[in-house]
Amino acid sequence: MFSLNKLLITLTLTALVSLSSVAFAADDTHYGIGEKATAEQIAGWDIDVRPDGKGLPKGQGSVMQGEAMYEAKCASCHGLFGEGEGRWPPLAGGEDSLTEDRPDKTVGSYWPYASTLWDYINRAMPFPAPQSLTVTEVYAITAYVLYLNDLVEDDFVLTQTNLASIKMPNEQNFYIDNRPDTNNTRCMKNCKDPSKIVVIQSLRGITPDQETETAPESSEAKPNLSEATIAGKATYDTSCFVCHGSGIAGAPKIGDKEVWGKRLGAGMDTVVKHAINGYVGDNGVMPPKGGNLTLSDEDVKNAVHYMVEAQ
Ligand code: HEC
Ligand code: HEC
Repeated sequence: MFSLNKLLITLTLTALVSLSSVAFAADDTHYGIGEKATAEQIAGWDIDVRPDGKGLPKGQGSVMQGEAMYEAKCASCHGLFGEGEGRWPPLAGGEDSLTEDRPDKTVGSYWPYASTLWDYINRAMPFPAPQSLTVTEVYAITAYVLYLNDLVEDDFVLTQTNLASIKMPNEQNFYIDNRPDTNNTRCMKNCKDPSKIVVIQSLRGITPDQETETAPESSEAKPNLSEATIAGKATYDTSCFVCHGSGIAGAPKIGDKEVWGKRLGAGMDTVVKHAINGYVGDNGVMPPKGGNLTLSDEDVKNAVHYMVEAQ
């Protein structure tokens, strides 16, 4: 018993001591967690190269040197001429293909800066052994890949100072896109009910052009509407608005008194039956339950009431 108490006291003391050392440590390092990165550790991470050449280490390498290195370390995947073996990515070719349906994006046809090539090879290649190349190897192999893209001559020597002056053919097609994320001004009060905002996607050539619009404010349930109508609003908003909100593909528009008046000539029952079972009319196809088969017949009936009565 005695020794257990002693042990507890010792443990408590130890805990107090280490707590206070944490508290002291918090004064000079952040929260006492972690340690200051050494200059060497930072250098290990800070390997990016910018378009203006900043970040490049001293060194150089020629196309001639690069040829053998490329063939030994890169060609098995990227092909002897950068054409890409099998499904490995090609590094050359594809000129003038960017406007085609299937553009061939390579270093030569697509990349805006030579610095990216140096950085990528240095950082990530060869695929099975990234960061295993010497600085000279990276310069020489980069020079050779530029040569494979007809961007430099076969006697070219790539250096720390001339890399930034290499102009890539597609550079001018990269520009800063400064359009705002959205053209709408931000709504801070009386905003639209998010449940009423319907996003309609259209695929060019497959679905007809559609206007993307939100459910009209008038779809707000009004106190003078019947109970069925009020109950039908939610169903309408989620399952019918897409077509009947704007009258897409021949769908009678909500609240269009004249059109609905004519249709109701056949009797409300028939109109509701059409909505439940679907039908093909003169104007288009009304899918059963608007395509949402999880709706009950009652839901659909209420939605029809809402569509007919809404102003
Ligand atoms: C074992 C196969 C393999 C080897 C060997 C290899 N690479 Fe790659 N390389 C890849 C793969 C896979 C990618 C795509 C990686 C990705 O998208 O994440 C790639 C991507 C690249 C790219 C970017 C291509 C682009 O348009 O996005 C360059 C440049 C490149 N490699 C250069 C080299 C160089 C130079 C060597 C030799 C030092 C080399 N690779 C060795 C498999 C390889
Ligand atoms: C994919 C589009 C689409 C959706 C979604 C849709 N409709 Fe229709 N609806 C139509 C079209 C098109 C017509 C007109 C067909 C015709 O008469 O040629 C129509 C017609 C109708 C009619 C008129 C029936 C008649 O006899 O005149 C009703 C009622 C109706 N829809 C109710 C609904 C309800 C309720 C929903 C939601 C549960 C819904 N629709 C969802 C396309 C749609």
